[in-house]
Amino acid sequence: MCGIFAYLNYRVPRTRRDIFQTLIKGLQRLEYRGYDSAGVAVDGSGKDHAASISLYKKTGKVKALDEEIYKNNAIDFEAELDTHFGIAHTRWATHGEPSPVNSHPHRSDKNNEFVVIHNGIITNYKELRKYLVSKGYEFESETDTEVIPKLIKYLYDNRENEYVSFSTLVERVIKQLEGAFALVFKSIHFPGEAVATRSVRAMVSLKLTNEQEKNLLNRRGSTNALHSVHDRLAVEFYLASDASAIIEHTNKVIYLEDDDVAVVMEGKLYVHRIKRKAGEDPVRVIQTLQMELQQIMKGNFKAFMQKEIFEQPESVVNTMRGRICFDSNTVILGGLSDHLKEIKRCRRLILIGCGTSYHAGVATRQILEELTELPVMVELASDFLDRITPVFRDDVCFFISQSGETADTLMALRYCKQRGALTVGVTNTVGSSICRETDCGVHINAGPEVGVASTKAYTSQFVSLIMFALMMSEDRLSMQQRRLEIINGLKKLPELIKEVLALDDQIKSIADELYHQRSLLVMGRGYNYATCLEGALKIKEITYMHSEGIMAGELKHGPLALIDKHMPVIMIIMRDACYKKCHNALQQITARQGRPIILCCQDDPEISKMAYKTIELPQTVDCLQGILSVIPLQLISFHLAVLRGYDVDYPRNLAKSVTVE
Ligand code: F6R
Repeated sequence: MCGIFAYLNYRVPRTRRDIFQTLIKGLQRLEYRGYDSAGVAVDGSGKDHAASISLYKKTGKVKALDEEIYKNNAIDFEAELDTHFGIAHTRWATHGEPSPVNSHPHRSDKNNEFVVIHNGIITNYKELRKYLVSKGYEFESETDTEVIPKLIKYLYDNRENEYVSFSTLVERVIKQLEGAFALVFKSIHFPGEAVATRSVRAMVSLKLTNEQEKNLLNRRGSTNALHSVHDRLAVEFYLASDASAIIEHTNKVIYLEDDDVAVVMEGKLYVHRIKRKAGEDPVRVIQTLQMELQQIMKGNFKAFMQKEIFEQPESVVNTMRGRICFDSNTVILGGLSDHLKEIKRCRRLILIGCGTSYHAGVATRQILEELTELPVMVELASDFLDRITPVFRDDVCFFISQSGETADTLMALRYCKQRGALTVGVTNTVGSSICRETDCGVHINAGPEVGVASTKAYTSQFVSLIMFALMMSEDRLSMQQRRLEIINGLKKLPELIKEVLALDDQIKSIADELYHQRSLLVMGRGYNYATCLEGALKIKEITYMHSEGIMAGELKHGPLALIDKHMPVIMIIMRDACYKKCHNALQQITARQGRPIILCCQDDPEISKMAYKTIELPQTVDCLQGILSVIPLQLISFHLAVLRGYDVDYPRNLAKSVTVE
């Protein structure tokens, strides 16, 4: 949550306009992480521009900040700066309401000697604030972050006669901080110099632009090495919480690890560890991003969410690519192969995630139980931790997360690791914390997901877990028929998804009828229950309508009381083992004058007769049907949100990557 972006040009002349544009564009790419307010810090004006820092902040989306900056007549946009470091932030409010004063960058004092951008939470900020107030510091915001610039100034002012480098000061600051943070610092005392660090759960990636990159990285950098003299270089660096913000500049990145401090000074990058463990390799390899700029652009779609819904025929293919051999009916997930024996011997499988990722676990649990013949638990990460759930050395725990950075899931991962379980990541973000901290894993390869409401990541998580079940059952003779049926189903899946997407106009017309409603129930059971939960979540988060996913078997135990001719209900009734039971639920609804909209299989006159409206879906294997049945609900929530006039990609109060517990 919150997006951090920073840009440093060293001996590469750039106008102020270029610098602002780079910072603003970077923030816009990160806006999905938070969009309550935004701010930038750049060098001040005048000949000795680095002797002062100017701050610009604005409540609302990045666009509002951009407009504010360009309205400012005092800024000389054409001034050329040979070397400059600018920092920028888009906020998802945790401490203090969205307002300019609570926006980042935060500053040490009225002269802006030190400024900081922060992603995460400082848990001991009250004690630090009290201490700094006792030393005469005046605070202007309600945020936890503001203690950081104040603390660094305090340490700087009290350094006595000792020379203290910028990075040493930062190290001293972070030794006092508790919580989770990714931070970038800028100071008038260290012009043109950038310091970035991360503790847990937040990411800063660093990126270099040209062929000099290998020379630039002081691989065993230490604070002492910072004072060496370097060759003349001309280079640009970008720092960001997410690769999507820098892909248009370069595809070469370095991911910082927890406790890394990265310093850019005189055009060179140094990375060193604050707490280096014995034998630990401090080398940070330069990685090449596979992402393309086009993947994070909206194209002709109205919203990223819509684009991502329509990408699903390709994204599921990318999830399966190189993993399923349709000729030999084999499935190989390379990231798990080395651990397969151990997994097969395990006591149980535990699938852990939050929100949509949790629903992917609910959706695949039954087929995992069937094909692995193992007990499978599906857990919401927060609740799993609250219960201090017993975990054993012979458990295998899956951590399902699109972003790979969700705090609750990451905490659950560390909890399971401590107890000796084998940990498996199912993520969409290469290099994310969950990727790096699990023993092994599966990349779902859905491509970047920008819309806050998760869509294509869900179907790719679904397919990944099905592939895992297939891989586990490869040597089970009794299961070959079932496996074959599922593998054939997967092969046809992209075409069937296209068929469902072709129903968009019909789905839009249903949304036209429903958009003024306050509530919408989604009902089903068996393999389609997860679709009910996921559909209701989509509706809630982007349309702000009340919506509930109801297990049809539970209808008579309470929810039936909600039913009358006014309550809109969507039911999912597919031709599977639960068909008859769903039919019973349908009768209970129509007997109370309910007017259900039913997602059913093509050519089902029995159902059509009783429905107010039907959305007819192609039929696939029972355990894959949820991949098709969720799509109409993704589309309906999208259309409802548009009709209700809401910003689909930026639902209020939410953010894409939830890095706080
Ligand atoms: C809903 C949604 C959230 C996320 C949840 C977990 O559309 O996106 O419910 O699924 O916050 O996020 P990840 O998968 O990144 O761990």
